[in-house]
Amino acid sequence: MTDNTITCTDFYSLEENIIHNFTSNKKPEILAHTLKVKDNALALAKRFVIDYEQAKTAAFLHDISTLIPVEHYIPMAEALDLEIFAVERENPYLLHQRISRIVAVETFNIVDKEVLNAINCHTTLRKNASNLDKLLFLADKLSWDSKDTPAYMPLVKKAAEVSLDNAIKCYFENLMLNKDKIKTPHPWLLEAWEEIHNT
Ligand SMILES: [Fe+2]
Repeated sequence: MTDNTITCTDFYSLEENIIHNFTSNKKPEILAHTLKVKDNALALAKRFVIDYEQAKTAAFLHDISTLIPVEHYIPMAEALDLEIFAVERENPYLLHQRISRIVAVETFNIVDKEVLNAINCHTTLRKNASNLDKLLFLADKLSWDSKDTPAYMPLVKKAAEVSLDNAIKCYFENLMLNKDKIKTPHPWLLEAWEEIHNT
């Protein structure tokens, strides 16, 4: 199912495999982001007593599908019988979270469901999110460093000193205040927001 641009070599560690894949495919910026997400994930895991290995594995693999051309996402999702939301048809990049999960299973032989679930919703979160889902979602957001990074991210970082839920609430509240910038929110994000908003 996944294409040959992504490889997993048994005698490499997961980190070495990730570095090799992004380097040989000339994606240094995504490699730098991935390593930053790993650092943030481990810092959050330490702070909130979440399994280190799960946090590290999820972080390393969360964006692995970005090595596959985005035009392949819809055909791949259709072949796998995944439900494809209208917003994902409009913006197939949103499928990269679910395609990364597929690559983690098929190419990296990851079987830990908690790790796979976290990868699967790292962009949008979901309702009934686990602590690992929340950790990866936040680690990803806290690792943005482009000119498009929202101005409120320092507030989210501060809130993450208290709890994962505080940080996610802070992120969603600010996101919704600026929701004119989001054309169509992903349904999983709306469900996660409603759940957190009502707690
Ligand atoms: Fe991502």
